[in-house]
Amino acid sequence: MAQALGITQDAATITRCFSCHATGVKRGLHPDGPDLSAMLPGVSCERCHGPGASHAANPSRVNIVVRSGTSAKDSVQFCAECHRGPGSVDLAEPASIRYQPVGLSASRCFAVSGRLSCLTCHDAHANASLEGESYTARCLGCHAEGGRVIAACGRATRQDCVPCHMKKQSSFPFLTFTDHRIRVYR
Ligand code: HEC
Ligand code: HEC
Ligand code: HEC
Ligand code: HEC
Ligand code: HEC
Ligand code: HEC
Repeated sequence: MAQALGITQDAATITRCFSCHATGVKRGLHPDGPDLSAMLPGVSCERCHGPGASHAANPSRVNIVVRSGTSAKDSVQFCAECHRGPGSVDLAEPASIRYQPVGLSASRCFAVSGRLSCLTCHDAHANASLEGESYTARCLGCHAEGGRVIAACGRATRQDCVPCHMKKQSSFPFLTFTDHRIRVYR
């Protein structure tokens, strides 16, 4: 019965929840608990860009801090702070589909190209597009030449690549995720 009210969490766990789900969370007075006095709910600008006061005082492109680094690997690592990265869960676990950086990092597309990141397909400032074409255009950015698909893929035309190479799965009740380990399913 009491479970219906939720699960009791310790202070350190609660600090971790807020660190991924809010902005401006600091360490609190309790040794492990969060100080929420300056908190903004949700993942907002300063969570990814750091303090914005110097930019606000002197608005210029030069002083926009993007914490995600420059290489594809660093960029994926940055998103993995919250979406979880390699090492956090075994790839063989069906639950790993929830952690997109884990799957993506295990893809040949990522390993061989050296330049595939989350930002290749997603805008950090918008919800994930629900249009297959927007993703297929990204695939073709690397897998086509002169308008022709260059891959040992009998079916690769300009049609939606995603349903065949990034399947959706429900590994949790009521939650569906997209397999980010881009591959041929055998
Ligand atoms: C390492 C970062 C991280 C931690 C720690 C974390 N979350 Fe999350 N949480 C996420 C991300 C990223 C998502 C969105 C993707 C997903 O559903 O897996 C999410 C999704 C959720 C959702 C579903 C939200 C929705 O819009 O459907 C809930 C509820 C939630 N988290 C609650 C919690 C609670 C409560 C805790 C602490 C016990 C917690 N989270 C800890 C990163 C985290
Ligand atoms: C989830 C992390 C995240 C959040 C939240 C976020 N950004 Fe960004 N932002 C990024 C990343 C990553 C880039 C680099 C984009 C790239 O290289 O494609 C970026 C780039 C930018 C740029 C420069 C790129 C451009 O469009 O010319 C501006 C300006 C910017 N963000 C402003 C904001 C503002 C304002 C907010 C809050 C409303 C915000 N961002 C929230 C991650 C984030
Ligand atoms: C940044 C470039 C890049 C992007 C974007 C990209 N790929 Fe790849 N992909 C590669 C490279 C490089 C390889 C490895 C080719 C090789 O093994 O010689 C690869 C390999 C593959 C493989 C074979 C995987 C395996 O395990 O054998 C498939 C299937 C594939 N890509 C499909 C896709 C699809 C579908 C998309 C879009 C959702 C996509 N790729 C996006 C660069 C990319
Ligand atoms: C090659 C393209 C591609 C790359 C790279 C990519 N995604 Fe996705 N992502 C998709 C597609 C396709 C969907 C499903 C969109 C839909 O529901 O129609 C998706 C959906 C998502 C979702 C919504 C939940 C889900 O699993 O369906 C999250 C969160 C997400 N991506 C995070 C990430 C992160 C973090 C990275 C970097 C590790 C990343 N993505 C890299 C193509 C990509
Ligand atoms: C501070 C933690 C944090 C960081 C860093 C972060 N995310 Fe997220 N992201 C979340 C949470 C939490 C959600 C779920 C929000 C919700 O369901 O309302 C989410 C949701 C998403 C979604 C799905 C939105 C949708 O359409 O359902 C995508 C795509 C995504 N993030 C991509 C990225 C990318 C790309 C990066 C790196 C540039 C990134 N995120 C960095 C916490 C984070
Ligand atoms: C109807 C399902 C389907 C669609 C759509 C599809 N593929 Fe494939 N793809 C496959 C299958 C199955 C294979 C394994 C080889 C075969 O049977 O042709 C494959 C193989 C590949 C390979 C080569 C893997 C290797 O072993 O070298 C690449 C790269 C690839 N596809 C990319 C794409 C791209 C890019 C698109 C979108 C333009 C796409 N595919 C659309 C089913 C599909």
